[in-house]
Amino acid sequence: MTETPLTLTRPADTTTAVITGIGACLPPRVVDNDTVIARGGLRTDDTWIRERTGIARRRHADAGTSTGDLAVGAGRAALASAGDPRPETLLLATGTPDHPCPATAPAVAHRLGLDGIPAFDLSAVCSGFLYALAMATALIRAGSCGTVLVIASDTYTTIVNPLDRETAPIFGDGAGAVLVTTGQAGEPGAVGAVDLGSDGGGADLITIPYGGSRHPRHLPGTDPDGHFFRMRGRAVYAQAVRHMTRSAGTALRGAGWAPDTVRAFVGHQANQRILDSVADRLGIEPAHRFGNIGELGNTAAASIPLVLADPAVHARVKPGERALLTAFGGGLTWASATLHWPDAEPVSERPADHPSASSRSDS
Ligand code: UT7
Repeated sequence: MTETPLTLTRPADTTTAVITGIGACLPPRVVDNDTVIARGGLRTDDTWIRERTGIARRRHADAGTSTGDLAVGAGRAALASAGDPRPETLLLATGTPDHPCPATAPAVAHRLGLDGIPAFDLSAVCSGFLYALAMATALIRAGSCGTVLVIASDTYTTIVNPLDRETAPIFGDGAGAVLVTTGQAGEPGAVGAVDLGSDGGGADLITIPYGGSRHPRHLPGTDPDGHFFRMRGRAVYAQAVRHMTRSAGTALRGAGWAPDTVRAFVGHQANQRILDSVADRLGIEPAHRFGNIGELGNTAAASIPLVLADPAVHARVKPGERALLTAFGGGLTWASATLHWPDAEPVSERPADHPSASSRSDS
């Protein structure tokens, strides 16, 4: 495969996107491993899940709470964290939109009182937040936009088969968001080098087979589980380690940073063993690795901003210190970015109420 990744590297004295607000929105319902196992009658146990993934519990959205409801909460929180500026564009990274049509972002913008601004969904599965952050950074560096609200929100409990032991214990629901504004490279919150890539040759490793134009919803199918999310875990594992390591290395080289100068390594929270493997290969010490997979599981696009928004992480990283973010997801897609740790107090909000939201079955 020939790779020509998008890289955004600039000398240290130029304009870039700077994170000035950080928000989180988690559904309040905490679900432990035993509850997931009992619900699906899964042939597994708490010890296997903890040892093979690092996950002890996760959050599940209640019936009727959608990706958009979490996105509104996280977006509102990020705006409050930044002092309530009015963004000029809203990007929503999600693989679980409220509806196949239209995109979820315009409704989220409307509920945040942002009618009129461009608002669109970005689909890069678990790499979605970093793809969206890269697009926001490109808009700001081009001078097209001064302030962008980047939200990542996913409710995988709406697409995962609760009877599937390979996915049901892994995924949780949540949303994270950042407000980025025009600033200078090198200041706290500044986005540095970015690396994005994809390999559609692996599209079948993470997929929902039915429900799109390839197999429309109204057509009968031979696969009774064809509308559920599925992942070929072992193959994905190997690809994730390979691509995250290489992409993160590309971002580090773009920034001119040695791995041992990174003070906060934040990888997509897919599996603790994947994260450890990538950090080991990059040469980043355990003391500088941060995550919350044990508490939240894999929240897909939301997983990196939910670490950025974690107060326990903020207590241990100083504004301006060097951070390395890296993600991998369906598509296949991968993305990495260097970041100077933001000088912003994270804010957390509950999911927004949406009276007209259609309820979903969540027995
Ligand atoms: O967010 C997008 C990116 N996602 C990822 O990066 C996730 C990547 N994959 C993974 O995290 C891991 O591959 C899993 C957690 C899904 C599985 O762990 P593993 O270390 O890759 O498992 P393994 O290769 O050691 O063993 C696989 C076996 C299979 O059984 P067979 O075919 O060997 O008989 C699975 O059916 O483990 C089985 N398995 C389970 N066994 C008990 C899968 N899930 C479970 C489970 N309990 N929950």
